[in-house]
Amino acid sequence: MQWKFTSGSPDKARFKAIVYGVFEDLDFSSLPLNAGPVKNAKQVRFKGKEGEAFFAFDLYGIPKKHLLVVGLGKRGDFGPPMLRKAAALAARRLRGRFITSAAFHFPLDQAAGKEALLYGRALVEGVLLGGERFAEFQSEDENHFEGLDKAAFIVSGEKAIFEEGGRTGAVLAEATLFARNLVTTPSNVLTPEKMAVEAKKIAKESGFTIKVLDAAACKKLGMGAYLAVASGSANAPRFIHISYRPRGAKFRLGLVGKGLTFDSGGISIKPSAGMGDMKDDMAGSAAVLGAMKAIGKLRPKVGVEAVMAMTENMPDGKAYHPGDIVTSMSGKTIEVKNTDAEGRLTLADALTYVQKQKVDAVMDLATLTGACVVALGPDFAGLMGNDQALLDEILDASRQSGDELWQLPLPAAYESYIKSSVADVSNIASIRWGGALTAGLFLKRFIDDNLPWAHIDIAGPALREKDGIDSNRGEGSGAGVRTIVNFLLNKAG
Ligand code: BES
Ligand code: ZN
Ligand code: ZN
Repeated sequence: MQWKFTSGSPDKARFKAIVYGVFEDLDFSSLPLNAGPVKNAKQVRFKGKEGEAFFAFDLYGIPKKHLLVVGLGKRGDFGPPMLRKAAALAARRLRGRFITSAAFHFPLDQAAGKEALLYGRALVEGVLLGGERFAEFQSEDENHFEGLDKAAFIVSGEKAIFEEGGRTGAVLAEATLFARNLVTTPSNVLTPEKMAVEAKKIAKESGFTIKVLDAAACKKLGMGAYLAVASGSANAPRFIHISYRPRGAKFRLGLVGKGLTFDSGGISIKPSAGMGDMKDDMAGSAAVLGAMKAIGKLRPKVGVEAVMAMTENMPDGKAYHPGDIVTSMSGKTIEVKNTDAEGRLTLADALTYVQKQKVDAVMDLATLTGACVVALGPDFAGLMGNDQALLDEILDASRQSGDELWQLPLPAAYESYIKSSVADVSNIASIRWGGALTAGLFLKRFIDDNLPWAHIDIAGPALREKDGIDSNRGEGSGAGVRTIVNFLLNKAG
């Protein structure tokens, strides 16, 4: 899609549609078109609230243009996040009418400097992501609309700053979409090996170094926990390690993504209803790879060691059993009380591995627990860790990003719940409650006490059960990509 920021009157521009943002005060005075939309809004009970939109074209026939009015909520609450939502909703509605070009008129005249940068970014992100739909496996032509090919954003003043923000937004949207599509792609197609192929492509286009370890190489490194999970699967595991080491970087992040291309539960098998959603159990690794794609373009002066322990979790004659005791790469032994708590086993070895890469902090993203979804619902990811300063930086990075994060505690008192009577630690807690926290505490056992570490449980937002801000029902969301990238951009200063 071609996009640009431009000044002038949108209704004179040569676009098939015009999009107007309107606040809840329903001030239509900036619409130069005539009284049509005002009466029209009354007719459809449009209140200007977030999530509302209507086409005025149908009832009043404004010549040759589709006029789409989008609610922006309360004037006082307006900011880049609301703009992103409105832009995404607009793009989705335009798509519904197979519209290929549009001029967007949002109230951005007051924005300047850093604010304009963020608005430009949010606007381009919203339009690029909101108009996308995953149709790779559908053949009917109504599923194969390419979306907008031209967009103009009407602003007065600081065009160059909006544009600069827009360029970052375009990179972030592309990376988020990439992660989204990986998550949506089913497990028969997106195998650990396929993920390795995708990672190699990104490494190549970005000039990153990459290592892909097979099971034998992982065995040599002593990754007994990760390999136990992989043992029941016909699709071989792939341990992916990408390094980005820019000259002069003063900070290096260890970035780990849970990479279960399918989680059946293993011998502790899951109920069949909804099991198909477990193709999303590699969303952490998708976020990591998506973020690396963006990093390759934005090239901040901070290092990243990205690690993804890719595998399936399957029941089989060769599968690991409940009751097994496995030895992790760290040397710690783990009692496997439930083979469905496999993510933390793969992460234990991935975290040990990444800590050997001279990193200054570690961040992991994982679709780790159903309990986190119970706690926070489908939109919020849970954030935990051992260093409040790092967590604050991550919360800060998420705030303008489109990702929603909420911090959860890691209470020392709950550590007793993951004690094992036969190994160093148990892979499930002895109580039912607080499962997101006990999973976090399990990971903490594999982190050096002096190393700042953050864990983001994205089990809720990874796959959308209903249309999200800028992603669709039944598809991956790309959750985490923008938070990781924002965090790194902020770190680079
Ligand atoms: N991949 C699941 C967690 C999950 C649940 C992700 C819902 C996305 C949506 C994880 O491997 C798992 O099965 N966790 C168990 C842990 C339990 C056995 C301690 C869970 O949450 O039930
Ligand atoms: Zn599981
Ligand atoms: Zn899992």
